[in-house]
Amino acid sequence: MDNRTNTIAGWVLGSLMVALGLSIAGDMLFHSEKPEKAGYPIEGAATEGGGGAAAEVPIAALLGKADPAKGAEVFKKCAACHTITQGGANGIGPNLYATVGEAIATGKGGFAFSDALKAKGGKWDFDNLNAWLTSPRTFASGTKMTFAGLTNEQDRANVIVYLNSMGSNLPLPAAPAAAAPASAPAGKATPGAEALSNAATPAPGAPSVDPKAAVEAEKK
Ligand code: HEC
Repeated sequence: MDNRTNTIAGWVLGSLMVALGLSIAGDMLFHSEKPEKAGYPIEGAATEGGGGAAAEVPIAALLGKADPAKGAEVFKKCAACHTITQGGANGIGPNLYATVGEAIATGKGGFAFSDALKAKGGKWDFDNLNAWLTSPRTFASGTKMTFAGLTNEQDRANVIVYLNSMGSNLPLPAAPAAAAPASAPAGKATPGAEALSNAATPAPGAPSVDPKAAVEAEKK
């Protein structure tokens, strides 16, 4: 009797150990995927060929209708490298709280800026930010910011007003109506920047389905 009890106990113990072993092995199998997910590629990080288009549209023309809430969405592309809350830590890039209006490549708790950016001088005014975010490499050749740039000008305007809303709150430059001479080239530059969707741009004066173009046409 005793012997049989021992045998049964032995089998029970044995199978428990096998079950434990399987569950550990299972854990290892399934958990091994985690590190791969955490190392997601940084969206918009520069690839060899990538470079933003030249900033042709005066940013003043776009800031007026820019939306900081949409800018916060755009900022998700920046958040891989930047914090923006007051006192936020530096990461791959410096904390960006109250950067609008500040001197370029200074402060930020001793963040180690590249010589390229330090050599720029000047301030992060709206024009400099627009040029920088169009193509960081064009603005400061040799910069450490390996971000290709935001080719969509409205995205840039949105993210700039969002940056401005985080600790700076500088008055926006004059709206397009006040900047009358600048608004004409701005209107012409738009179809060029979106050449793909405007492959068949109608002749001037022809009926247009593009509401933006219609507004521009009325102004002339
Ligand atoms: C791949 C990481 C990365 C991404 C993505 C990135 N940045 Fe940067 N950013 C940096 C680094 C690194 C620097 C420092 C550049 C240098 O010293 O040359 C920097 C610098 C800056 C500066 C200058 C700060 C100062 O005090 O002079 C601004 C402004 C800025 N980034 C804004 C943005 C915005 C806005 C976005 C998103 C549209 C963005 N960055 C996306 C890494 C990144």
